[in-house]
Amino acid sequence: MQSAPIKFERFQAENDNACQHRILAAREKLGRRLVILGHHYQQEGVYRHADHTGDSLKLSRAAAASDAEYIVFLGVHFMAEVADILSRPDQVAILPDMAAGCSMADMANLAKVERCRHELAEHYDFDTTFTPVTYINSAADLKAFCGEHGGIVCTSSNAQKIAQWAFSQREKILFFPDQHLGRWTGHKMGIPLEEMVVWDPDQPLGGLTKEQIDKARILLWKGHCSVHQMFQPQHIVNFRKQYPEGKVISHPESPFEVCRLSDEVGSTEFILKTVSESASGTRWLVGTELNLVNRLAERMKPEGKAVQFMSPLVCECSTMARIDPQHLAWTLENLAEGNIVNRIHVAPEEAELARLTLERMLAVS
Ligand code: 13P
Ligand code: SF4
Repeated sequence: MQSAPIKFERFQAENDNACQHRILAAREKLGRRLVILGHHYQQEGVYRHADHTGDSLKLSRAAAASDAEYIVFLGVHFMAEVADILSRPDQVAILPDMAAGCSMADMANLAKVERCRHELAEHYDFDTTFTPVTYINSAADLKAFCGEHGGIVCTSSNAQKIAQWAFSQREKILFFPDQHLGRWTGHKMGIPLEEMVVWDPDQPLGGLTKEQIDKARILLWKGHCSVHQMFQPQHIVNFRKQYPEGKVISHPESPFEVCRLSDEVGSTEFILKTVSESASGTRWLVGTELNLVNRLAERMKPEGKAVQFMSPLVCECSTMARIDPQHLAWTLENLAEGNIVNRIHVAPEEAELARLTLERMLAVS
């Protein structure tokens, strides 16, 4: 029988160990009605409870394939939105802490992207010249914008395939919100750097001239990830001096020079797979979020592989870290009592257009 929702305050002072027991007990009650999806950046205290772990693409597929009544997302807001969009209307997507956002996703919003479209439309027929491509790290209304304008969504693991599709539709791409992923993707496709220009949403015409836009193949939105921008070429240079035989692997949200100096560049899932499959004795410098790197380092130790974090500073995704054992225990106990807390629900009209672009992405990748 349904009761009043349990308040989070009752969990705030609870220690991690007690929360672990409460999580397990609530899971037991919920059984197959619940599925937990966990992104690789999550802290171990919640990550260990995930039924499926992965990068954004893998978790989108898991959400689309899930039959569970409740999809609890250990990730950030846009990931839970994607789970809501791709699941059936009778399934419920939940984010254990509503404050778990993505600072990069917040760097583009619909008002600014619409302004960009209007400014470009003064010089070009927007819908026949530009394919809008949004990184999955964006709000649902931007995915819907892409749906409305013949665009598509990409993730860090399929960006090149998606860009190929986008160029098969129109001559130019408007890529938001991550300039680094957009630039690296264009570079891998052989597009010269001068043909990829940064669109600054706070400047008239993005701070560009009409001639610059004429020549450009990709307009890169001026956005970035605050975690990955901490990695610097010097970190790689120092590592190579100390360990000339060492290998470097980075996430494509890292600055261009960092990606260029790396041996391998790819999504979180790609990073885990590549390091896991490398030969015993390999030493790795890894440019992505700290929780992933620490977990990987622990897992690789018995196999004789050394894994080290790229920056001397702590670079944690502080918003992802808001999903802690306390919030997970609170969420699951409420669900076990019949109370849905922190539901992420995208408005149906927006969800319909956003689903179109996400399904297009899944089909292309
Ligand atoms: P992945 O899709 O590679 O997991 O990346 C998601 C993300 O937010 C990285 O910062
Ligand atoms: Fe967003 Fe960066 Fe955190 Fe990824 S690491 S969720 S891009 S803030």
